[in-house]
Amino acid sequence: MKTKTLECIEEAAEILQAGGLVAFPTETVFGLGANAQNKHAIERLFEAKGRPTDNPLIVHLADRRDWPLAARSINPMAERILQAFSPGPVTVVLPKAPAICDLVTAGLDTVGIRIPAADVAQRLLRAANIPVAAPSANLSGRPSGTTWQSVLEDLDGRIDAVLKVDCAHVGLESSVIDCTGTEPVLLRPGAVGLCELQILFPRATQIGYTAAAGSSLSPGIRHPHYQPRARVQLLESTVGWHPPVELRSRSYAYAGLEDPPDWIKLARQFDSIAEYAHGFYEFLRMADRAGVDVVLLQTIPVAAVAQSGIAAALADRQLRAAGLA
Ligand code: TXA
Ligand code: MG
Repeated sequence: MKTKTLECIEEAAEILQAGGLVAFPTETVFGLGANAQNKHAIERLFEAKGRPTDNPLIVHLADRRDWPLAARSINPMAERILQAFSPGPVTVVLPKAPAICDLVTAGLDTVGIRIPAADVAQRLLRAANIPVAAPSANLSGRPSGTTWQSVLEDLDGRIDAVLKVDCAHVGLESSVIDCTGTEPVLLRPGAVGLCELQILFPRATQIGYTAAAGSSLSPGIRHPHYQPRARVQLLESTVGWHPPVELRSRSYAYAGLEDPPDWIKLARQFDSIAEYAHGFYEFLRMADRAGVDVVLLQTIPVAAVAQSGIAAALADRQLRAAGLA
């Protein structure tokens, strides 16, 4: 299959309507879109990503009032969350509507719904006028794609088209919030974290980061995620740190907020946690392109993790990239 790089949103929308696969930018990461009502399109999507079929997909809609296209019912809690944070980097889990193909939700009777804020995503969803299932546009297990070039690196020849526009300014995936109980439960941290959620719902909780704790509520947590080919090692600081003697011949990459040590082959120093989050996946991919053996990631201070969603989300992705969660 030849993958088209498109700038025309109407053409991308027509491909989606016809059952094709189109990667498009959102404010979090690029999504790989397919018609959520078309079983064949969703089968192709799982195949193109190499995604385990027990990991459900998020359904993207243009407007929060469109929820009946994907969900069977809504409750005041979910409505309040959507009102506060949508369009934006948040996914709410609600009872699933029958029109959504069972493959999308991996057989669950719940569905994740997200209203992306990015202008291109909004225009695409409005032009296509269908619910669009879209996982992150990367091969399963790899770091998510935040540029159209990274999307092609993984998916060229496996999908119909990619929209050649960049706008993933958050850089990490949406917060997934289970809204089927009496209080919200944060299943995956994103730019909206527990601290932001608890401003609205003081009794909101978060599931633990381990596979065992998360497996029933958030199926995606069972599988390895966001991992480059290089080994990932987390460090509070590289000041005074050196690789063990037997590993000195390896090549190292470093990303963090501090000045990198001078023996590093590839380094990225970020000015803020938000910038670190924004550049995180692209840095992991750059390290692979440069063929480094080990990626050192400076961890996020505990105080920041407690106070900001994006800091907590970045800490979560670091643990997963290192295979520690
Ligand atoms: O920011 C995002 O959410 C991006 C962009 C493209 O919108 N999408 C994304 O999709 O990150 P994906 O497939 O990479 O991650 C979806 C996550 C998985 O962890 C999955 O398990 C969870 O959402 N999820 C989806 N439906 C669910 C459901 N019904 N119940 C619980 N978790 C669900
Ligand atoms: Mg993903």
